[in-house]
Amino acid sequence: MVTEGAISISAQYGSFRNAASFNRQASSRGLKIIAVLYKGGNAAKEEPRLLGTVENELGLRPWLESQGHEYLVSDDKEGSQSFLNKNIKDADIVITTPFHPGYLTRELLDTAKNLKVCVTAGVGSDHVDLNAAVDKGLEVLEVTGSNVTSVAEHVVMSMLLLVRNFVPAHEMIERGDWQVSDIARNAFDLEGKVIGTIGAGRIGYRVLQRVLPFGPKELVYYDYNALPDAAAKTVGARRIDDLKDFVSQCDVITVNAPLHEGTRNLINADLLKHFKKGAWLVNTARGAIANAEDVAAALKSGQLRGYAGDVWNKQPAPKDHPWRYMKNPLNGGNGMVPHYSGTTLDAQKRYADGTRQILENYFNNKPQEAANIIVGKKGYETGSYGKR
Ligand code: NAI
Repeated sequence: MVTEGAISISAQYGSFRNAASFNRQASSRGLKIIAVLYKGGNAAKEEPRLLGTVENELGLRPWLESQGHEYLVSDDKEGSQSFLNKNIKDADIVITTPFHPGYLTRELLDTAKNLKVCVTAGVGSDHVDLNAAVDKGLEVLEVTGSNVTSVAEHVVMSMLLLVRNFVPAHEMIERGDWQVSDIARNAFDLEGKVIGTIGAGRIGYRVLQRVLPFGPKELVYYDYNALPDAAAKTVGARRIDDLKDFVSQCDVITVNAPLHEGTRNLINADLLKHFKKGAWLVNTARGAIANAEDVAAALKSGQLRGYAGDVWNKQPAPKDHPWRYMKNPLNGGNGMVPHYSGTTLDAQKRYADGTRQILENYFNNKPQEAANIIVGKKGYETGSYGKR
């Protein structure tokens, strides 16, 4: 199992529940495995630890080929003539990542006659039509936990850079200017703020743990799954059942829920009206959980004082995406970066190793770790993609 962080949260959440059994033949030979990864260019040639790239292929090629499997890798994923569309037709296993998502839509899965397993090298399988996978009896497995500390650290960093007004301060230095009051007029301390997470799973809980030493006024969370009592007590987090009530109480909000029917477009103009005026919002979960135009408008009006994150509703984000340029009325409040919080070199090693372990289990007819099973042979195994 991939574990990280200070507490054994996966144990608290029963990661080993629902251990699935696999009915495959004992050994697999000559499978066709395809992977959609992102192009790493020179960086990937110079830095072999960039494992999640087309160039470095999750480090799987020598091992897979030694087992007699065919392994095809590309970043080409859009359109009927793409690598993905053409090769999925007779692939046995498809590997994708959330960083450069190969969208496994129902229509595409309909064409995949031999497909048995979709593996997400990372965390977050919303780019797979999970309902279609359930209908087709496909398994969707991911390397749960592999980058949750990486993301939690990024969330805390993003909270700090927004609250402390860091980005405009640094830009001022690069411009050659020096006017402390222009920065300080919109800079605050994290101490004494009400900090809340939408979704208090592996990442959300780690964020709560990490911000506790800053001395917040209160930690709160909104999640249809309650934290185990001991975990809630450890961080002193109060659960709020109603989302509008929740956002109205928070100074800083972080989104750490998966993208599914119940979270798509969750943060929209209507909900933003219920935020405290001048709140800060950090979203490293999925871009489509927040409405791009509504967030940009809320930042422009000052309803939000800041928005930061690394996930976008379209990736790569188009050059004219409003989140690239949006600013608050004091010309700051934008902490957007490309999707990399969960793909640090440390995280890449963990999700590459985890992908290999999933394949190894599959080849050897061994059970997968329960926490890694999003959709099993009999349907949803996770409780994180909506109340079902
Ligand atoms: P998790 O499964 O441990 O926790 C998710 C929590 O969200 C669960 O407690 C679930 O009950 C809750 N939730 C689901 N729907 C909700 C709703 N409508 N309202 C409130 N809570 C809801 O997942 P984990 O590991 O914490 O990851 C969360 C998400 O973060 C992933 O699904 C992925 O989308 C994103 N992520 C982003 C990364 C990045 O690089 N930016 C890397 C890793 C994950």
